[in-house]
Amino acid sequence: MIAVGELEITDAVNREVWENNAAFFEHLIGWIDQGEEASLNRVADDVRGLPILDLGVGAGRTTPLLRLLTRDYIGIDYTVSMIAAARRRHPSERFVLADARDLSAFPDAHFGLVFFSFNGIDAVGHDDRVRILKEARRVLRPGGYFVFNSHNHDGPSFTDRPWNLRPLAPMATRRVIYNAIRRLWELPGSTKNFRRLQRDAFDAGTHGLYPSASHQFGIVVAFVSMKAQIDSLRTAGFDSIAVLRDHDGAAVDANADTSANAWLYYVARVNA
Ligand SMILES: C[S@@+](CC[C@H](N)C(=O)[O-])C[C@H]1O[C@@H](n2cnc3c(N)ncnc32)[C@H](O)[C@@H]1O
Repeated sequence: MIAVGELEITDAVNREVWENNAAFFEHLIGWIDQGEEASLNRVADDVRGLPILDLGVGAGRTTPLLRLLTRDYIGIDYTVSMIAAARRRHPSERFVLADARDLSAFPDAHFGLVFFSFNGIDAVGHDDRVRILKEARRVLRPGGYFVFNSHNHDGPSFTDRPWNLRPLAPMATRRVIYNAIRRLWELPGSTKNFRRLQRDAFDAGTHGLYPSASHQFGIVVAFVSMKAQIDSLRTAGFDSIAVLRDHDGAAVDANADTSANAWLYYVARVNA
């Protein structure tokens, strides 16, 4: 439906939400799921001691995890409040206000690992995601990795709606109940957000833009199918690509059924 407004809507909506929500991210610690842990474990031995760039670092949840691998660490984010929160939380680490679409502050072939966690890459429109892939590729040294996760166009999150009280992933009964009550409580606000943002949503078959359940359907994010994401990674110059599931970190092949996976992890490598 839209192409013209894709940049404006994602930047206007998402950036403001994150600018105003640093406090929420300041309390996050540890892995968000097994996919994240497995994807970093997969590259840990190859990137240990090398420079690491943490894109969309938020309030620094991933900083201690990545610092286990290297002393040469830098986190960037495009919101002032997140950078301030990350600096407060980890005063001796390096954080810079910068946009993942423009990594011109960093030289070619420098980093051993570029990491973009928690579906941060989906915050921008389709063309800008491609720009981020190219920038990540440019700043990676031979043998380097770009690791990120992204909302799955073919998964349950693409059709998630505020009035859906069922969780998208298996969880303990207590959490199912908590989740349903929270969703009910949030329903008026979520529905209002959803209706407002849905106007600019679209589905292009293998990718689309839609309100995401995060922040009470108050952000609009890119969804991409696994095959389309692998194709864009190849076009951006990555040589080998592994895909891992969110809930258990298991690797899947390019023809796998991903309909149960809200998001997927991509481990993309440049040849050594
Ligand atoms: C879902 S939050 C995740 C924060 C953190 N990585 C974590 O896992 O706790 C996404 C973060 O990406 C940042 N972000 C989104 N698009 C960005 C861009 N183009 N450049 C830099 N940061 C971006 C947002 O400001 C936000 O802090």
